[in-house]
Amino acid sequence: MLVCAAVAVLVVAGFVWLMVHIARLLPMRHPDYLVSMTGVDGLNLEATSGGVPTTLSPVFNLTVRIVNPGNVNPWDSTCVLGLSTAVVSYGDAFLGRGSVPPFCAEENEVQERMATAWGEDVVLPRFLRERLSAELERGEASLDVQVTMPAGCSRCTDTVLVCNKVKIGGSSPSPCRVEEVYPRPQPTPAAAGSTS
Ligand SMILES: *[C@@H]1O[C@H](CO)[C@@H](O)[C@H](O)[C@H]1NC(C)=O
Repeated sequence: MLVCAAVAVLVVAGFVWLMVHIARLLPMRHPDYLVSMTGVDGLNLEATSGGVPTTLSPVFNLTVRIVNPGNVNPWDSTCVLGLSTAVVSYGDAFLGRGSVPPFCAEENEVQERMATAWGEDVVLPRFLRERLSAELERGEASLDVQVTMPAGCSRCTDTVLVCNKVKIGGSSPSPCRVEEVYPRPQPTPAAAGSTS
C-alpha cells in the first residue's frame, strides 16, 4: 500500500518535472499588441480671434497591430474581438472613442487594422490644455489609448489593451500591456440621464 502511494507520488512529481522542462524548452510567449496614431484632426489649442477654444472635437486615426510570434501561450488570445472599443485620453481626460474591427493574427503573423476615434465638444481642463498645447508646440505630444474587448461570457473579464504615451503622428507604434478587468455594471438609465 505504502509502496503504491510512493510510486504514485514519484510518477506525479516526474510528470510535473517533465512538464516544467518542456515548457522551458519551448518558451511560451505572449502576443504583442501595439497602437499607433497615424493622424489627428481638431486638436488645435491655439487662441483664435474668438479666444482660446474651450471645447475640442478631435478625430484620431489609429492603427491597432497584433504580432503573433508563434508558440503563443494557448491561454492567450491573438485576436481583437468583435465590438471592441478604443478610447483616446490625455491625462485621464476623455478625448474620443471609436470601434475597432475584429481581427486575428495567425502564428508568425503580423496583422493590423485601422480605427477612427472621435469626440464632439469634449472639455479639457485648463491645466491639461496648457500642458498639451506646450507639448504639441514641442512636437512631443502623446496620448493614451485603451482598447477594451468585451468579455466572451458572463462573469468573465474584459480584456483591456493599455497603450500609454502613443505619439501623435508617430511612425513607431507604442506597445500595449494587457489587463483583465471585470466589467463594471452599467449605470442605470435614471442615474445616467438625470439632467435636471
Ligand atoms: C484618417 O484616415 C482617413 C482614411 O484613411 C483619411 O481620409 C483622413 O484624412 C485621416 N485623417 C487624419 C486626421 O489623418
